[in-house]
Amino acid sequence: MESVQSIKQRFAIIGNSPSLNRAIEKAIQVAPTDISVLVTGESGVGKESIPKIIHQLSHRKHNKYIAVNCGAIPEGTIDSELFGHEKGAFTGATQTRAGYFEVADGGTIFLDEVGELPLTTQVRLLRVLENGEFLKVGSSKVQKTDVRIVAATNVNMFEAIEKEKFREDLYYRLSTVDINLPPLRERQEDIHLLFRKFASDFALKYKMPTIKLTDNAVQVLLKHRWGGNIRQLRNIAEQLSVLEQNRTITVEVLKSYLPAAGTNLPAVIKTSKSDSDFSSEREILYKVLFDMKADLNDLKKLTMELMKNGNVKDVEKNNESLIEKIYGSDDNEDTDYEESITPNTKVLSIPEHTADQEDIISVQDKYHFAEEIEEEETLSLHDKELELIKKSLERHH
Ligand SMILES: Nc1ncnc2c1ncn2[C@@H]1O[C@H](COP(=O)(O)OP(=O)(O)OP(=O)(O)O)[C@@H](O)[C@H]1O
Ligand SMILES: [Mg+2]
Repeated sequence: MESVQSIKQRFAIIGNSPSLNRAIEKAIQVAPTDISVLVTGESGVGKESIPKIIHQLSHRKHNKYIAVNCGAIPEGTIDSELFGHEKGAFTGATQTRAGYFEVADGGTIFLDEVGELPLTTQVRLLRVLENGEFLKVGSSKVQKTDVRIVAATNVNMFEAIEKEKFREDLYYRLSTVDINLPPLRERQEDIHLLFRKFASDFALKYKMPTIKLTDNAVQVLLKHRWGGNIRQLRNIAEQLSVLEQNRTITVEVLKSYLPAAGTNLPAVIKTSKSDSDFSSEREILYKVLFDMKADLNDLKKLTMELMKNGNVKDVEKNNESLIEKIYGSDDNEDTDYEESITPNTKVLSIPEHTADQEDIISVQDKYHFAEEIEEEETLSLHDKELELIKKSLERHH
């Protein structure tokens, strides 16, 4: 079996962090089998080298390796691209065409951005994964193929499943083995190593002396969030290599190339959006419903007492705390509200990695957004709920 080090050399993979080595090791181990592999990780972490390693170390290496970017093929043509079509299957299908699954028979297909596959294509894919069978578009003749699938995604597949954009059965079928590539910020020891490699590659490419970072600039490089991971690091190394006359890069120069805190927002906005989507609103509604149920039980207790006892004053005296719980008292109205929002606020998650400036902004954004929803929703529901209870109690008085 080839060693992790020799694989890194062969596939030009730089880095020595334990998590990277583990991912490569896993790829080496699964390569000789036909197990489906799902490569996960943020954008720009280097997912594309994993299926290549798997294919090259497998018995399929002399057959075809086809990489398909599922996110880049229009929904209308993806079935035909993957599975082929019959002549006359749709306007413009002037000839029968073989799809990737037919062409790659005996080889490997890399389905990049698999989370983007339309649901109808997911059904076809599930079938081919389960028994190797597929139909060309416009054909009823079942064909057989022997293809190994390696898929990759940079989206949260559980979220996609929850939103019914991705079939759960297909997810489990694709991810028999999951190879995760961690973000660059969790591979601190690789950052400067990668930068030096890129700097020397670009110096060669543009025939200029290699750029070098001052010690302080190295510290800035290590602390940066690298939302675009290795792709972003590479771009910055290239820009600096081409544009900077002075080949010693200081903190100030480096910072002028790094996106300022808060300008990396697309990803950040996406996170806060997803956190404020239906799932968190649902949590809020659940809480309101639970609270209502508890109040309703208290009310039932109180009315039962009233029915049995008949003396309002006695019941009031014996159930002081219960009545206060349901009605509340004017002076603790605010605390009630505070209490009612706290559990909801906890529902929202905060990114786990160390907070640098950009993270702090994202967390603040998130809470700002979340509190806006909660204030409106919880207050109005809370008020309505109290109003209902008060009305029903008044009826009994
Ligand atoms: N360990 C590494 N050593 C050297 N170059 C790397 C490494 N990892 C990634 N790269 C380079 O970084 C760039 C981005 O990698 P890649 O295209 O594999 O990202 P990705 O994970 O597929 O991202 P996306 O989800 O956006 O498609 C490529 O140019 C790749 O060669
Ligand atoms: Mg990719």
